[in-house]
Amino acid sequence: MPDVLYDKVRAVELRDGAVYLLDQRVLPGTLRHEICRSAAEVAAAITAMVVRGAPAIGVTSAYGAVLAVTAAYRQAGGAWRAHAAPEFARLRASRPTAVNLGWALDEMERALQAAGTEPPGPLAEAAARALHAHDIDANRRMGAYGAALLPAGARVLTHCNTGALATGGYGTALGVVRAAAAARGIAMVYADETRPWLQGARLTAWELIEEGLPVTVLADSAAAALLRAGRIDAILVGADRIAANGDTANKIGTYGLAVLARHHGVPFYVAAPLSTIDPHTRVGSDIPIEERDEAELLRCQGVLHSPAGARAWNPVFDVTPASLVDALITEQGVVERPDTPKIAALLAAAHPAAS
Ligand code: MRU
Repeated sequence: MPDVLYDKVRAVELRDGAVYLLDQRVLPGTLRHEICRSAAEVAAAITAMVVRGAPAIGVTSAYGAVLAVTAAYRQAGGAWRAHAAPEFARLRASRPTAVNLGWALDEMERALQAAGTEPPGPLAEAAARALHAHDIDANRRMGAYGAALLPAGARVLTHCNTGALATGGYGTALGVVRAAAAARGIAMVYADETRPWLQGARLTAWELIEEGLPVTVLADSAAAALLRAGRIDAILVGADRIAANGDTANKIGTYGLAVLARHHGVPFYVAAPLSTIDPHTRVGSDIPIEERDEAELLRCQGVLHSPAGARAWNPVFDVTPASLVDALITEQGVVERPDTPKIAALLAAAHPAAS
C-alpha cells in the first residue's frame, strides 16, 4: 500500500455506481465522504464546495456525466442523449470560473459520440477514468518541470489548496512542491490561510503535514511582510482559468501576491494543466468570476462576527495579468512570460490536429 497521502487519498472516486467525494468542507478535523448517486447530487456537491479545485471538479463532473448517461439510458433507452442533456447542463453550471469543468464535459460528450445502440455507461466510465488518470499524469509531469525552476532547499509561498485534494491526485502548484521536496528538498512551504474557506490553513497544511513536509500557515495579509523580509524564493500558485493571452484567474488574493512578487523581485509561477487554458476566452477580463454568498465572509465556522446590517463582497477569484507571471508550468513544459503567441504555440504543439 502506498504510504504517501496523495496516493492514499482521492478527492473523488467512482465506486459501486456512485461518486464518492471526500468532504473538503470538514477536513482536516473530520474524514467523511459524501456519496452522490445522481448527476444532480454531484452538481449540488460541486456548488456546495464538498469538492473544489479546478482539476478536481473537472474529474468530478466527468464522473457525474457517467451517472447522467447511465440513468438516462435506464429511463429512456435509445433516447438517452436528450434525457442526459439537462443533467450535463446542470453540471456545467455548478461553478462558473474553473474551465476544467466545461472542458471535462466537452471531453465526455466527444467520447460519447462513439456510443452506438449499447448502453452508454461503460463507454462513459472508461472515458472518465482515462480523464482522471490523464490529470494525475499531467500533474506529475508539471511537478518535474516546475521543480527544476526552484533552488535546492527552496522557501516557497503558496495560496489556496492546489494539491491532491484539488486535482485528480498529486497536485499542480503543490505537485511542484512535492517534486521539489523529493528532488532537492524544500526548506519551508508558507501557506496563506486563504480566507474565507481556509483552503490553505486546512487543506494545504494537512496535505503537507501528513507527508512530513514543513509548513507555516500565515494570514493572507501577512504575505507582504514575509516577502519584504526576504524569506521567500518563489511564489507558486495554481489556476482556475487561463485566458488565451495568459491572464490567469485563481483564488482571490492571487493577484495581490503577483504584484508583491514583482515589487520584491521574487519569481511568480503558475502551475496548471493544459485543460485549464481556455483558448475561447481572449483576455482575463472575459473570465466569469464567481461571487459567493455574503454569509461566507460575515460568519466564521458558522458564527456571525459582523454586526447585523453589514454587507460583504465575496468574489472568490481574481485575475492576474499575464505580464506579472514569470512562468507558466504545464505538463508540456515551462512557458516563460506567457503571452498570446506563446500560449497558441503551446496548445498547437499539444494538439497539432486542432490547430
Ligand atoms: O474555490 P476553490 O477552492 O475551488 O478554488 C481553488 C483554487 O483557486 C485553486 O488554486 C485552483 O483551482 C487551482 S487547483 C489545482
